Amino acid sequence: METSQPIGLFDSGIGGLTVAGAIKTLLPNERMIYFGDTAHLPYGDKSADAIRAYSKRIAEFLLEKNCKVIMIACNTASAAAYDIVRDYVGNRALVMNVIDPTVDLVCDSENSRNVGVIGTKGTVNSGTYSKKILERRPDYKVSPLATPLLVPMIEEGFIFDDISNAIIRAYLSNDAMKDIDSLILGCTHYPIIKNQIRKYFNFNIKVIDSSLAAANCLKDTLIEKNMLAHKQTGKHEFYVSDYTEMFEKIGEMFFEEPVKLQLANLWE
Ligand code: DGL
Repeated sequence: METSQPIGLFDSGIGGLTVAGAIKTLLPNERMIYFGDTAHLPYGDKSADAIRAYSKRIAEFLLEKNCKVIMIACNTASAAAYDIVRDYVGNRALVMNVIDPTVDLVCDSENSRNVGVIGTKGTVNSGTYSKKILERRPDYKVSPLATPLLVPMIEEGFIFDDISNAIIRAYLSNDAMKDIDSLILGCTHYPIIKNQIRKYFNFNIKVIDSSLAAANCLKDTLIEKNMLAHKQTGKHEFYVSDYTEMFEKIGEMFFEEPVKLQLANLWE
């Protein structure tokens, strides 16, 4: 594998751009190929079988683009499809997900005991976070809560306003979130509302961002495997399976620089 090969990432839509944004900051030489499966958004309500089939097809696309790493930049797809994608890709690229680095961070932390997890229905119902954390830290308490309105809320641009504050309050006042000392943002859309969530808890709890955890883990892995790009090798590319102008606009908010989307309908 050549160090100059790009990093491939995918999500159901633009949520994974929070991972791409963190990678851009941490690893400025890496070129990224991003795929947002907007034709099938949201993944949070789909069956695990459907998500597995979409993920395999997208992995194939990213392999065709010669990616050295395929980062599943979506918690829902990481929960449903990581094993299948990893087996499918084999030694053609390194496959990573956003859940394992987040679990590592929580399990290695000195001051997390009572951990809340918010995510899509798919992520929460899979039980992946609880299982992986409790396997390593049976002394922890894990309280998962599905917060399905947050993705459409963010995608409609309701952030830092009364509507989003009311929805966040309605979810986080749930009994499951009582007495937590740490909260995992188990969806790559949620870093966009991280400060609102921290404010809800009066900045008293640790908020763990799966996008940042994944980007940090990618950096460590590339260093360890001698796979870091040594110089910039071209522009990032952004593909979606269904184009809308709105996505381009919101994409820029997630990635924090202009995003020119190209259409790639893999299911034609
Ligand atoms: N960004 C995805 C995640 O991390 C969820 C979005 C969706 O439901 O499609 O789970």
